[in-house]
Amino acid sequence: MNFSAVTKQTNRGFLLLAIVFIVLSFVQCTPKHQVASSSQAGTKADHPDKGLKDYYKNYFPIGVAVSMASLHGPDSALIVKEFNSVTPENDMKMGPIHPSEDIYNWKNADKIVDFAVSHHIKIRGHNLCWHNQEAAWMFKGADGKPVTKELLLRRLKDHIFAVAGRYKGKIYAWDVVNEAVDDSDDTTQVYRKSNWYNICNGPDFIEAAFRYAHEADPQAKLYYNDYNSEHPVKREKIYKLLKKLIEDHVPIDGVGMQAHWKLYEPSPDELRKALDEVTSLGLKVQFTELDITIRLPQPKPAPGSTPPTPDPGYTPELEAKQIAQYKMAFDIFRQYKKFITSVTFWNVSDKYSWLDQRGGGLTGGVAAGENTPRTVRKAYPLLFNENLQRKNAYWSVVNF
Ligand code: XIL
Repeated sequence: MNFSAVTKQTNRGFLLLAIVFIVLSFVQCTPKHQVASSSQAGTKADHPDKGLKDYYKNYFPIGVAVSMASLHGPDSALIVKEFNSVTPENDMKMGPIHPSEDIYNWKNADKIVDFAVSHHIKIRGHNLCWHNQEAAWMFKGADGKPVTKELLLRRLKDHIFAVAGRYKGKIYAWDVVNEAVDDSDDTTQVYRKSNWYNICNGPDFIEAAFRYAHEADPQAKLYYNDYNSEHPVKREKIYKLLKKLIEDHVPIDGVGMQAHWKLYEPSPDELRKALDEVTSLGLKVQFTELDITIRLPQPKPAPGSTPPTPDPGYTPELEAKQIAQYKMAFDIFRQYKKFITSVTFWNVSDKYSWLDQRGGGLTGGVAAGENTPRTVRKAYPLLFNENLQRKNAYWSVVNF
């Protein structure tokens, strides 16, 4: 071996050693970085390649609500890494997808379905019948007057056949009817007085929607979806509705509990009661729109007044409470794993949450069903921060 060959080999040796050293320090550093950003540092942090879906692979799919914007760039990479179920945030709702009798906007919904299919991600359909983001044309005839019950149900059937039919075999669960239960404390008032209810002169549209959906896609699991499903009064109303559907042999598989929660609501006891009640009916449960706002309920500000102090934002105290609330929720979810068939977050990261637009005045980030002025006050409700990094709350959910 001549001198230059020896030098070459020595150089190669050094190069190899250097690579091994770099790789080793990278492997050691990666978890440390994650742990460093986490007061909940624990054993699970030593799997840098794992996402939520992997930590929960023996429990249930973990989903996220998606829009067109989240199918590109960093959001999409995060979705693929962390989640194995998606729900279109708006693009399958009646109004957006079926704005007039002969027009269907398939473009966005198709893109979400293609994205999910190409990444082997499951798809929840959301939703087939709702009083919000509705297709307003459905309620009116050519004369501008309300349609008859018969015509409304025929339009509902056509709609469900078109939408559930198009994605047949690709959607594992549909929110068939969304938010049809009344919010008031009046226990005798079970159903929301929506256009659906008023024109049908009762709740028949609910049962009809489930039957149409089952006919259109017999394999899809069918869910009734609502918020505040852990509040004692609303819980009982939802229970009455579900019991009646089951007694009438309506094809329903489960309940979607939206889970737009707060730092102190629901309590563990309320959450367990809600789960015990619906599962006693033989139904499955999906948590369909999970987020936990850091905003606490406050009195409404006087009209025209400005918030008194600069917004302190995501303080360590609020963060600690959010961590505890997330941990409590997932501890209970895991205990009920045989009934829970998915848990879906509503939006990807704190960079954008639908709650930010709802949280005006002093309250900020209020849960669904409440009504406050629309000033941006961020709600910081998710497991990833504004830079798409895992928050401490993330580790409280995966370290079990
Ligand atoms: C919200 C979307 O996130 C917003 O982008 C849209 O402006 C309004 O609807 N309950 C539901 C969801 O069932 O469809 C809602 O989604 C949030 C409350």
